[in-house]
Amino acid sequence: MSMSTDHPHVIDVSNLSISLKNDNNSIAITRDVSFSIGRGEVLALVGESGSGKSVTALALMQLLGGNLSISSGQIVLTAIDGYSADIAKLGRNGRQIEAIRGARMGMIFQEPMSSFSPVHTIGAQIAEVVTVHEDVGRKEARRRSAELLAKVGIPDPVGALDRYPYEFSGGMRQRAMIARALVCGPSLLIADEPTTALDVTIQGQILDLLSKLKDELGMAILFITHDLGIVAQMADRVAIMYAGSIVETGSVREIFRRPSHPYTRALLEAVPRLGDIDERRRINPIAGSMPNLFEPPSGCRFHPRCPVAVHPRCSLERPPTFGSGGRLVECIHGEAELAR
Ligand SMILES: Nc1ncnc2c1ncn2[C@@H]1O[C@H](COP(=O)(O)OP(=O)(O)OP(=O)(O)O)[C@@H](O)[C@H]1O
Ligand code: SF4
Ligand SMILES: [Mg+2]
Repeated sequence: MSMSTDHPHVIDVSNLSISLKNDNNSIAITRDVSFSIGRGEVLALVGESGSGKSVTALALMQLLGGNLSISSGQIVLTAIDGYSADIAKLGRNGRQIEAIRGARMGMIFQEPMSSFSPVHTIGAQIAEVVTVHEDVGRKEARRRSAELLAKVGIPDPVGALDRYPYEFSGGMRQRAMIARALVCGPSLLIADEPTTALDVTIQGQILDLLSKLKDELGMAILFITHDLGIVAQMADRVAIMYAGSIVETGSVREIFRRPSHPYTRALLEAVPRLGDIDERRRINPIAGSMPNLFEPPSGCRFHPRCPVAVHPRCSLERPPTFGSGGRLVECIHGEAELAR
């Protein structure tokens, strides 16, 4: 299917802001986050620790906890079956969001042990997702679960149904978590650093598996990672997040070849050309540290670390966003940079 207007993005996030409410004030943790992902497309969300990647991912599923909440913006999901809803409007509980979570949207993350209950079998926990979301019996749910375990490469999938999470290795648990996230055929998969805890060989296998399943199922993937090697391997497009804002988006090629935001350039310093990034690299530490999001800098949040800041403008005004479609830069130099 083409990506024309007849087939809109699977997910369209616009101006999403998440805030932390205390007794008498509210602090914007993320502000005006916008991105979209089409069918069969992988968007990598990249940024330093604490930049707001996980809270953004959680907001997409209405899973923000504690005092965090969506303060503005839209999260329009248009599922492969044609169902469409603005998740930002749904609230944390209720029939509609519960029907979406785990079915039209799936999520996998770093630590599969905490996502499975230790006291129930793997099979029961995957089958439960099916019976909650679909009108099928126990036997059919079990058959589907075994089918998914086979798809993710678990040997003896029928036998594996009756085993407990602690009987699986880390890599196997990760595969089982993927099976559970995919058993209802989601339109969007959110993967929050899903391979960070795994050794390199297993990591490679899981990434290959995700690519294969994505092509097979045509789903969109939001892939959160620190690892630029993984970005180059997995992603079609990249969104760079800094201190709660997406400062640049572009195709993998554009981001690696012509990074236009000073922060993106700092991140990529060790990776000068796309051809050189076949080896695994972590984000280079850059001078200074990420601001505390509870007391963010004024103006451009990157200004205290920016080598090309224009004073006093950058510390006073929030920079405009330049570009269009999938290529955006939030920086006062953005227009000139994009024209280079
Ligand atoms: N439940 C919460 N209550 C209050 N603040 C939170 C909560 N969860 C996250 N935060 C804050 O929100 C900000 C963004 O956190 P987030 O976990 O999204 O970062 P991240 O980009 O995923 O980092 P990492 O790469 O380390 O996973 C941080 O300042 C964090 O302290
Ligand atoms: S707006 Fe100013 S401080 Fe922010 S990245 Fe651009 S030049 Fe640097
Ligand atoms: Mg995180």
